[in-house]
Amino acid sequence: MNAINRLAAVVSLASLLPLSALAAGPGTVEVTHWWTSGGEKAAVETLKKQVEADGFIWKDNAIAGGGGAAAMTVLKSRAVAGNPPAAAQVKGPDIQDWAALGLLTELDDVSKANNWDALLPPKIAKIMKYDDHYVAVPVNIHRVNWLWINPEVFKKAGAQVPTTLDELFAAADKLKAAGFQPLAHGGQPWQDATVFEDVALSVLGPKGYHAAFVALDEQALTGEPMKTVFAKLQKLATYMDPNRAGRDWNLAAGDVINGKAGMQIMGDWAKSEWTAAGKVAGKDYQCVPFPGTQGSFAYNIDSLAMFKLKDENDIKAQNDLAKVALEPTFQIVFNQNKGSLPVRQDLDLKQFDACTQQSAVDFKDAEKGDGLQPSMAHNMATSLAVQGAIFDVVSNFLNDPKADPAKAVTQLNSAIKSAK
Ligand code: GAL
Repeated sequence: MNAINRLAAVVSLASLLPLSALAAGPGTVEVTHWWTSGGEKAAVETLKKQVEADGFIWKDNAIAGGGGAAAMTVLKSRAVAGNPPAAAQVKGPDIQDWAALGLLTELDDVSKANNWDALLPPKIAKIMKYDDHYVAVPVNIHRVNWLWINPEVFKKAGAQVPTTLDELFAAADKLKAAGFQPLAHGGQPWQDATVFEDVALSVLGPKGYHAAFVALDEQALTGEPMKTVFAKLQKLATYMDPNRAGRDWNLAAGDVINGKAGMQIMGDWAKSEWTAAGKVAGKDYQCVPFPGTQGSFAYNIDSLAMFKLKDENDIKAQNDLAKVALEPTFQIVFNQNKGSLPVRQDLDLKQFDACTQQSAVDFKDAEKGDGLQPSMAHNMATSLAVQGAIFDVVSNFLNDPKADPAKAVTQLNSAIKSAK
């Protein structure tokens, strides 16, 4: 067949095909997320590569801003404009809100074919379902109540690894006296709330934490112990960098990695920065439960909510993303880079570092009693409106070194009441 005949054959074949097939190219999956630090980029790259290897196009919609507030603003405006992405990092109770608006798609085929009900812990599966259909896929389990330590700096300062809040203050005093920044921190509302939540878990215990931030119980929110939470938070702030306003969490992590600061209070995505810097858990750095929260596990599950799409090929790409997200290879490589636990329960954790292995043991222990609690600071416990109200009170309090803990408690309660 010469070139002209070949072209004619293609054209006549094309005339027999339906229009949709003619338009067919590989489907595209656009993903909105906020995994933009060096370590987190490496993690998300593993998802992109797998989707591309399956023949689909990955459209990255990364929106910088730890904790995801900026990403959520973009997502809302895109949804209002009728142009949501295929997938977006949406978490906890917020998944239900998006589904209730009728914007999320049901992932019945892919969830049944890949047996998600058997792979996922039932409590986590429940968060991903709306009306008994999966509308989101979880990728990991982060633990929020961690303290990250540079052992070299501790040694130089003669500081001991703390297990209680008082020991934490004692270690911070030693670090300060030796000329180090005791606590690396970024003054952004979600980072302030992360520290606040850890202190609350330490002071109130998991039951008290639950009463305050899940049940939003007025007594728990206004009691004497909550005043203590704010007082301890205020003391902690005295060990933070006074120029911390607006700093990103990964820059704060960098200060601990390079030995300028001794500690950081942050969830285990902080580990992604240590990993990216080639540091080894248990040797170059230490992870310990936030002092006083041993036995508790404040969980933060990253999940991708799937939006309704029209184009058949894009739907195929979306289903592929959902499938890949729970496959063993992705779960292992992604979570090794991200610092989190795999959400699949059937993987051998020997391939993970010491911190992740400890996290897995602590998760199982916490699950047996009241220890397993949803993270307020990371969208797992309340509506975003209530969370925003808490963030405001906590950040205002931290930004004023003379603020009165008793007043903060009153403000917290009334802010939550009006946001409910
Ligand atoms: C959390 C998210 C983590 C991490 C962190 C910092 O909300 O779950 O995956 O990205 O924010 O941005």
